[in-house]
Amino acid sequence: MNEKATLLVGGKSYELDVITGTENEKCIDIQDLRSRSGYITMDPGYGNTGSCFSSITYVDGTNGILRYRGYPIEQVAEKASFVEIAYLILYGELPKPRRMKAFSEALNEHAALHTNLEHHFSGFPKDAPPMAILSAMLNLVACFHPEVLEVHADGPEFDRTAALLLSKVRTISAFAYRMATGKPFNHPNPNLSYCANFLHMMFSEPYQDFVASPVVERAMNLFLVLHADHEQNCSTSTVRVVGSSRANLFSSVAAGVCALWGPLHGGANTGVIKMLEDIKASGKSITSYIDMAKDKNSTFRLMGFGHRVYKNFDPRSIILKKQVHDVLQELHLDDSLLEIALELEAATLNDDYFLSRHLYPNVDFYSGILLRAIGIPLNMYTVMFAIGRMPGWISNWKELHQHNQRISRPRQIYTGYTERPFVPTAER
Ligand code: CMC
Repeated sequence: MNEKATLLVGGKSYELDVITGTENEKCIDIQDLRSRSGYITMDPGYGNTGSCFSSITYVDGTNGILRYRGYPIEQVAEKASFVEIAYLILYGELPKPRRMKAFSEALNEHAALHTNLEHHFSGFPKDAPPMAILSAMLNLVACFHPEVLEVHADGPEFDRTAALLLSKVRTISAFAYRMATGKPFNHPNPNLSYCANFLHMMFSEPYQDFVASPVVERAMNLFLVLHADHEQNCSTSTVRVVGSSRANLFSSVAAGVCALWGPLHGGANTGVIKMLEDIKASGKSITSYIDMAKDKNSTFRLMGFGHRVYKNFDPRSIILKKQVHDVLQELHLDDSLLEIALELEAATLNDDYFLSRHLYPNVDFYSGILLRAIGIPLNMYTVMFAIGRMPGWISNWKELHQHNQRISRPRQIYTGYTERPFVPTAER
């Protein structure tokens, strides 16, 4: 028997359908509640609102579970390349060797930017934030490929557009860094892997090719795999909202980049390192920072702590914490910020404020230390997150169209003036 929910409101009773997902998640379907009863529901920040049906990523925040298309993040992180995970997220299945080859070739084919597009980088001030450049350039790339302005969520047109975006985001990101440092662009090298090619475009010099060590390449691959998708987070929801107006894929993900930039979302990875550096430079105790984070008169928050969904631990943070230790060891590096981070985490584990609010390290807490170890500059951390999240954004945009979802258009409860007569300027 189909489960039902009953709502009693305004002296009337309404029967509502209960929908169950494949992991037994339940929701009450209120889609026609307003037309039947005149009531809307209120949930600012959408903490308890399902906005779509999706078969891409599953998150169980209570038990710290994250799966891409059913595959546990722990297995994926250990074994998969970012390119095969991008394929999995986009197409629903792990690629067979033949498909993997074709997909990798498509990424190579689309890696270069139109020469005229390269000139646009010089129009940005030297210290322009790379996230601003990335968002702007994604829209600009689309102008050079008018065919991607058409909405295709399937077939060869979609395959081409997705490959173009996955590949060009990497080139744009590396070029943004080269421009800011006043260095010549390094063009993509099709003989390199996705990660090694990015590192080459970032760090090769006219007098010396940068050859990434296997440890560095593996660390970057892991970072990207762990960021590849995370269901309806702020930037992915943004991509869906923009895409729901039937905006093209490029402008939808450009909006996603802007959402990701914020310090409560992807910008937190930069915020964590700034916070740890600040603790180190200030000479103040860890306790004083914890007290500041707990002080409701202060706007300070522990960056890299807390999560809307994870209420026990973030599985990505557990993987990253271990990887940071291994990578530092393999590269024979010692990072004092790691010591501070470990101390900070340990202090919160004994503090009732953090325990009672279920605040634990999230994906951003240790990822910055990993990026530091492999030589990525601080202002590129959130850009790295954007490169990683691209498969998730593209796939959610595709799914939105496949489900022919309605335009996103939430309601509100108006709390302003009731009607009043207009006052002419002279009488105000
Ligand atoms: N430091 C101190 N207090 C915190 C923190 C924190 N990092 N995070 C949440 N709280 C407190 C918050 O003040 C509130 O306390 P109270 O109930 O007394 O008012 C309570 O915990 C619940 O917080 P919330 O802001 O209602 O929770 P949310 O689900 O709306 O926000 C969050 C989630 C991730 C934005 C938030 O925890 C936060 O700001 N964290 C710091 C920024 C960060 O690390 N962001 C990365 C998120 S994970 C990856 C990603 O999306 O990029």
